[in-house]
Amino acid sequence: MSGINYAEKIPNNVNLVNDRTLQRALEHWRPKFIDWWRGMGPTDSQGADVYLRTAVSVDAGGWAQYGAVKMPDYRWGIFLADPVAARTIGFGDAMGQPAWQQVPGEYRSTLRRLIVTQGDTEPASVEQQRLLGHSCPSLYDLRNLFQINVEEGRHLWAMVYLLHAYFGRDGREEAEELLARHSGDTDKPRILTTFNEPISDWLSLFCFTYFTDRDGKYQLKSLAESGFDPLSRTCRFMLTEEAHHMFVGETGLGRVVKRSLEVMKELGTDDPARIRAHGAVDLGLLQKYLNFWCSSSLDLFGSEISSNSAANFANGLKGRPDETQYQDHVLRSSTFKLFTPEGEQEVPTLNALNEVMRESYLKDCEIGLKRWNRNIERAGFPALALKLPSTRFRRAIGAWAGQPVNPHGNVVSQEDYSSNLYAWIPSEQDRTFVKSLMKRVVEPGKMAGWLAPPERGVNNLPVEYEYVKLH
Ligand SMILES: [Fe+2]
Ligand SMILES: [Fe+2]
Repeated sequence: MSGINYAEKIPNNVNLVNDRTLQRALEHWRPKFIDWWRGMGPTDSQGADVYLRTAVSVDAGGWAQYGAVKMPDYRWGIFLADPVAARTIGFGDAMGQPAWQQVPGEYRSTLRRLIVTQGDTEPASVEQQRLLGHSCPSLYDLRNLFQINVEEGRHLWAMVYLLHAYFGRDGREEAEELLARHSGDTDKPRILTTFNEPISDWLSLFCFTYFTDRDGKYQLKSLAESGFDPLSRTCRFMLTEEAHHMFVGETGLGRVVKRSLEVMKELGTDDPARIRAHGAVDLGLLQKYLNFWCSSSLDLFGSEISSNSAANFANGLKGRPDETQYQDHVLRSSTFKLFTPEGEQEVPTLNALNEVMRESYLKDCEIGLKRWNRNIERAGFPALALKLPSTRFRRAIGAWAGQPVNPHGNVVSQEDYSSNLYAWIPSEQDRTFVKSLMKRVVEPGKMAGWLAPPERGVNNLPVEYEYVKLH
């Protein structure tokens, strides 16, 4: 073994010490990952001491160990949730058969593709967020950003582990490619469009963690149902971490709403120009950001009608999120009503699973909005309540792709659509204004003026705690 103490460097519960082949593969990959992190990870903060959560085991006491760490020294570990004894496949045509501990030959390339697609999003989001440290609204927020970044790095490790451990040589090649593609790169972009959108301000970060990380949650939930047991166990553990990312999004946007309402009260007006002049985000502007990121994330679920997702389900590779909530797990005689530009269609449910997933995702997205809207109503501005855009709005994939539809879901003329688009999503001017708010605040306990402080700090520490020591 060349110099790496695995128990020390790579906390894991996959018995790495006793698997020479895997060790060698990871030994080869790890320095490339560290290079990638130094080159494509968060800028200028590599020497900072960051108060981070590290998983050292999967039990209640081990998955959230807190302490100050310099990020390149973060102990990215490999963890699978505990096995379920005698687990069987819970859906599809192989329902009831034992879950697979190895990759079935006939599903090898499809499973590899699913793992690579999921794996690609993890480093992509680190790349998208790498410059945000320059404009953090507080040390508390900076710490949360870095926590998300290291965990996305760990999620990459989780997928690379599967590729190395179960897919031999092509798995190792895919693991290299995961570090070779880069977000927004014209020659070698990330696989999914949303992960090539730049995230250049914190309002976008909060939207991204609210909408796009939540897509991640739903993808992980459906992969957690997989008949391929190592994938299922990996995803189950990733979900515990993913929850924090959505927490950052939901509380972040909630704090923006709170601050906006404070300013409206202080000034006695809901005039967007005056709110902006006061250095806060007006709710109309926030609505545009929600429209942009929600519609962009909806595309991640794929086409309304999909024979791939039908096959993945029928073959036991990818289930529905929370599969046990349904009665019928085989879906060979079930139909689903879809609305397409051609009108209502009844299709086999098997072919509409992307839509089924999108619907449950949207229900989950509603929860935060209800909470924010309660505060907006209480403050006396019910007309400014925030809404999710229609699933037909600004779609680039599926039956509604390229259709001129407004955020309410009504088809409008192409002319109407083009002339109103920037009343629905952020215009250049809106983005410039948001950028103007992005001033770096790094004095412990201080907050930028465009968002309220959080209700509490991290791990029972006060909000004023120096979460990042920048030196
Ligand atoms: Fe992730
Ligand atoms: Fe995430």
